[in-house]
Amino acid sequence: MKKTIKLLSILFLFGTIFMSCEGPAGLDGVDGLAGVDGLAGADGNLTCLECHSEAVMDVITTEFNAHKHGSGTSFAYAGTRGYCNPCHDGDSYLEFVRTGTLITGPGLNLECGTCHDNHASLEDGIDAPVRAVGAVESLINSSTYDHGAGNLCATCHVARSDAADYYETADATYDRKFTDDDIATYTTAAIGPAGTSVLVGDTLFVTFDVPVTHVYTSSTHAGPHHGPQANMIAADMGSVTGTKFTKHTDCSWCHLNDTTATTGYGHNFTPDIGQCDDCHGTAVDDITDMQAAVATRIAAVQTELEVIHAIHVEDGEVHPVYASLEKEQWNAFWNFMCVIEDKSEGVHNFGYVDQLLTQAEGALGL
Ligand code: HEC
Ligand code: HEC
Ligand code: HEC
Ligand code: HEC
Ligand code: HEC
Ligand code: HEC
Repeated sequence: MKKTIKLLSILFLFGTIFMSCEGPAGLDGVDGLAGVDGLAGADGNLTCLECHSEAVMDVITTEFNAHKHGSGTSFAYAGTRGYCNPCHDGDSYLEFVRTGTLITGPGLNLECGTCHDNHASLEDGIDAPVRAVGAVESLINSSTYDHGAGNLCATCHVARSDAADYYETADATYDRKFTDDDIATYTTAAIGPAGTSVLVGDTLFVTFDVPVTHVYTSSTHAGPHHGPQANMIAADMGSVTGTKFTKHTDCSWCHLNDTTATTGYGHNFTPDIGQCDDCHGTAVDDITDMQAAVATRIAAVQTELEVIHAIHVEDGEVHPVYASLEKEQWNAFWNFMCVIEDKSEGVHNFGYVDQLLTQAEGALGL
């Protein structure tokens, strides 16, 4: 700062001296050549404001904030356990997709910059700048998933375990104690052929017998984890491997297809079935009808799984329970979990969902 002031005073002094000994004015110089015309700029009204108007951004921000990405509570689970974070903390996700590193994070919900980058350039034909995310490595086998912009989504929306993670290689037993409301649930538990169950005071002592012909459900969170949609498309998370869904597999193509001003700009992440029906919607492939048929089959399997004590249903919500089940019945439980955690009632791969439900129906005598 001092230096600048000193320099300015010297210039001022020099200017004053120079002005005081000014000579007669010289002749006017020759005009310079006209400069080259600048490139035509992008038409601000037609390009930038298609997205950057207050009205558009307000609609997007409102619908985004109302969505679970913006306001869901599962992001609070991040922080303490680094391996939850790439999917449950915006900052950790960015670190993970940039460097593959797992970091501890504050549990931030997603925000615009989680999925959007800056424009690479501002020339004609500008698209929303979506963060480039490469093919996603499976967490349960050696495959990779490549769904275009859907790789953004598939990084998080994947299975975290598969059926084989639960299979026994030798006979085993597992002891557990149950109290309170659990006593009612586990008095009728599936304890295996030589399992035992004894109530002592206010505690139920259960020994689950798990010969190799059986499989043990070792957690009330058993299943592929919530949101294994990429694996439903890849048909590789159930007890059977099936046929991949190969037609328009980019998650964002279907989930952000709702791009009309009256219904939003896709940031409620809900596919607009009306737009799907421009191509589908005939009697043979009406998406809604096909979903309804799947929902009926899911309900029947769910009822049977509750009968064999593979699951407990409360207030309409399915909870896995500790259980030792004969392998094919356990596979029925697993395949059912894959179908319900996927949440699309078949859309992500009607063929594979049919295979999974057919296995379950067979094993449960439906
Ligand atoms: C198809 C939609 C779309 C069009 C058209 C578009 N943008 Fe963007 N732009 C976006 C999105 C989405 C972002 C990321 C926003 C974020 O991360 O908050 C963005 C980010 C930006 C940013 C970074 C600053 C910020 O807010 O994060 C600038 C600057 C920008 N755009 C300028 C322009 C200009 C100038 C034009 C016209 C030449 C233009 N954009 C056209 C969608 C668009
Ligand atoms: C950083 C990880 C992450 C990314 C990236 C991500 N999601 Fe999600 N998504 C989640 C989590 C976590 C939830 C559940 C939030 C909650 O309930 O707290 C969720 C919820 C959803 C839901 C609502 C599900 C329901 O039960 O209502 C949809 C639909 C969805 N995501 C689709 C997408 C699509 C499509 C993309 C890509 C454009 C995407 N997600 C990208 C982690 C992610
Ligand atoms: C989970 C990822 C995700 C998040 C978070 C997200 N977007 Fe997007 N956004 C997308 C995808 C994917 C597209 C579609 C890109 C395409 O199809 O070209 C998109 C498209 C857009 C567009 C262009 C819409 C159009 O109709 O062409 C705008 C503008 C935009 N996003 C703004 C935002 C703003 C603002 C936020 C935060 C409030 C936000 N996005 C958050 C994934 C996301
Ligand atoms: C590979 C990504 C990934 C990892 C790792 C992950 N989750 Fe999730 N989780 C998701 C996605 C995606 C959803 C949302 C699925 C949906 O709604 O369809 C979700 C949903 C949840 C939910 C909300 C369930 C509901 O229905 O409201 C909870 C709670 C949760 N996760 C806890 C955890 C915990 C705890 C960990 C670490 C032990 C963890 N998650 C690790 C991807 C992941
Ligand atoms: C062929 C189009 C299509 C593709 C590709 C697609 N989805 Fe879906 N998805 C749907 C439809 C349709 C539904 C059911 C929506 C409904 O019933 O309202 C759905 C349901 C969901 C749900 C449950 C939403 C809820 O409210 O319960 C989530 C989460 C989801 N998809 C995420 C994804 C992810 C992540 C990908 C990519 C790995 C993906 N989807 C690929 C069409 C698609
Ligand atoms: C531009 C046309 C077009 C649009 C729009 C479209 N699809 Fe498709 N879709 C197709 C074609 C073509 C096939 C392949 C048909 C075949 O293999 O018989 C297909 C196949 C499918 C299949 C597999 C059908 C089966 O029997 O397994 C599903 C599911 C599907 N689309 C869902 C959707 C959903 C959901 C949407 C809206 C988000 C959508 N599609 C939008 C053209 C479209």
